[in-house]
Amino acid sequence: MIREPKNQSSADRAQFERVEEVFNSSAGTLSERIDGFPKFASRQSIGKFLARYEIFKKILHVNGSIVECGVLHGAGLLTFAKLSSLFEPSNHVRKVIGFDTFEGFPTIHEKDTKGGDSSHFSVGGLTGSAMDDVANAVALYDLNRPIAHIPKVELVKGDLCETAPRYLEENPHLVVSLLYLDVDLYEPTAVALRTFVPRMPRGAVIVFDELNAKMFPGETRAVDEVLGLKNLKIERFPFDSYVSYCVL
Ligand SMILES: C[S@@+](CC[C@H](N)C(=O)[O-])C[C@H]1O[C@@H](n2cnc3c(N)ncnc32)[C@H](O)[C@@H]1O
Repeated sequence: MIREPKNQSSADRAQFERVEEVFNSSAGTLSERIDGFPKFASRQSIGKFLARYEIFKKILHVNGSIVECGVLHGAGLLTFAKLSSLFEPSNHVRKVIGFDTFEGFPTIHEKDTKGGDSSHFSVGGLTGSAMDDVANAVALYDLNRPIAHIPKVELVKGDLCETAPRYLEENPHLVVSLLYLDVDLYEPTAVALRTFVPRMPRGAVIVFDELNAKMFPGETRAVDEVLGLKNLKIERFPFDSYVSYCVL
């Protein structure tokens, strides 16, 4: 979930504005300050980080790759990659696969705008980092990763409605242990569910980043149409507003 300006209080905005100043004037090398991230990161982003950690622990003993739909700047993707390296350094079979246009929303369906009130609804909305930028972060992570000669992270660029079915076609071995749905929109969420859920064994986890979020009703509609909300036990964490999940 990216910050929705309408949801920020003036105190939130003041904090987001001040953080740059505090970070720039703090002691320590850039690398030391980055490693000291809790000093600067917002309470909300630490909550999101912990949610990802809790989710990862649930799939640690489930075979299958991690598929993230919606990469933005790569925070989630690199969190899962680093958690995998920390907790299962010899598991070179589990890949972390990120799907994104790397150019923001490619299209928006009327099931997104009807009832939705996000200020990001436009083609190119929610554009994050360029793919090369995320690839540089992956190369940085690879520098001291165990079994670094076998690639861990894959970036798949383009509209997921086309790239996801093609990826499966080209990778018939794929088993998915974690499907992280974070494209915010109806169509790519529906396609991701139709493509990847049949590849998920029992115990695998689907994460929803915008379920029950008024801004982006498309995700709820896609989940209801493809899986049926009443068929799922959907749980959440008390320390993050958006993340919810179901264990298959
Ligand atoms: C909320 S952001 C993802 C946040 C990310 N998971 C994180 O860890 O910060 C949503 C992303 O979905 C991508 N996206 C939306 N629709 C897409 C589509 N049809 N195909 C591929 N990417 C899409 C956008 O480009 C954007 O980067």
